[in-house]
Amino acid sequence: MAERFLCDLPLGKRSQNIINRDKKIVSGCTTRDLSIVIKDGKGCYLTDVEGRRYLDFGAGIAVMNVGHANPEVLAAVRKQANHMTHAGFADFYHELPVRFAETLVKTINHPNLNNVFLSNSGTEAVEGSYKCARWHTKKKRVIAFNGCFHGRTMGSLSMTNSKKVQRERYAPFLPVTHVPYPYWYRMKMEPEDASNFCLDKLENSMKKNNDTAALFMETIQGEGGYVVPPKSFVKGVRKLCTKYNILYCDDEVQSGGFRTGKFLAIDNFGVTPDIVSMAKSIGGGMPLGATISSRKIMDWVPGAHSNTFGGNLVSCAAGIAALNYMKKKKLGQNAHKIGKLIMKRLEEMKEQYEIIGDVRGLGLMIGIEIVKDKKSRTPSVQERDAIQCEAARKGMILLGAGKSVIRFCPPLVITKQEAEKGMDIFEESVRKVSFNSY
Ligand SMILES: Cc1ncc(COP(=O)(O)O)c(C=O)c1O
Repeated sequence: MAERFLCDLPLGKRSQNIINRDKKIVSGCTTRDLSIVIKDGKGCYLTDVEGRRYLDFGAGIAVMNVGHANPEVLAAVRKQANHMTHAGFADFYHELPVRFAETLVKTINHPNLNNVFLSNSGTEAVEGSYKCARWHTKKKRVIAFNGCFHGRTMGSLSMTNSKKVQRERYAPFLPVTHVPYPYWYRMKMEPEDASNFCLDKLENSMKKNNDTAALFMETIQGEGGYVVPPKSFVKGVRKLCTKYNILYCDDEVQSGGFRTGKFLAIDNFGVTPDIVSMAKSIGGGMPLGATISSRKIMDWVPGAHSNTFGGNLVSCAAGIAALNYMKKKKLGQNAHKIGKLIMKRLEEMKEQYEIIGDVRGLGLMIGIEIVKDKKSRTPSVQERDAIQCEAARKGMILLGAGKSVIRFCPPLVITKQEAEKGMDIFEESVRKVSFNSY
């Protein structure tokens, strides 16, 4: 049976063959919107097995901040792989994971974020935060936000609720209370009103239950639609967590690694969390997760948490190279500069096209809300998908988020020329879809 994709990109023989084999052997729970079979990547570009080139505005879901096939990361991987790959960090000491943790803590640069647990993915980094919070506080309940995404293993999934299908049939969950997140555009409120409304609900929930260990929050909601909260909200959350003695767990899995200009997205809000979860970009393309907190909060005893692959030597070598590259090349500054340029173009487009309801973002974490019309703000999934398809036909990869949002999360090495080219393709795609000629 032929695979059904979001759009009918021409399928070459090589792609068809691999997709057919994939369909037979690979479990079908993952969503693939586009029929693109990747062969290679370099910088901001991907090439498929048919030899077509794509400008990549998705970066493997905000992973490849340092660019595809980054030469410094590849050299570090080769060097370590020639030596040995796995030392069993759960049982033995080794310098590389220590050096990675030191580099990470130095890059984060908050005096109270100085202790690291290493893992392999975002969901594991969140599980680490969750278990650490429960161990330290001896409390059971956590608070998370409507529309959040924290991963898909049972602890993080108990919090995740950005799409129905992610939770369907998996109950019972761990004790989590969900409260509203200030998605003010969808709430049809002014940002400050939405912030006050959500802070009230949050405080009520904190007051009601004295068995709350932690609050989990993505500073910018990722899968939920690239939603940037008002500054007053993030500051208010910090205040409430302190007031009610609840640990503030900041999920930086998608927003971290200089994507928003600062190393942690929360640094844009002048707030320090108690526990941070990171993954995606910090491994430079290798699987690497980290839970970061203070030694005081990370008071768990040996055996209270561990894993087999945390501290993997090749991942740590890649991670050190990636973090050093990000700093050396000032990728945060580039994210800020290129992000501004893209936002300017998007603001102009918003004036021109009825289907662009909202544009928002920090650095190179930018969301574009596609709607039926500006007045109703009704999400337009069909048009969002059509823009994504049109862009792919024209040689550009775009990812969706939320209900009808397009997210821009390109590699942070993107140049002005590449950004302008991307914006030209995006605008042509929006124009075509707007005038119904797709
Ligand atoms: C904010 C956030 N937290 C956690 C995760 C889970 O990460 P992973 O897919 O590596 O388990 C994601 C993945 O997209 C994410 O965006």
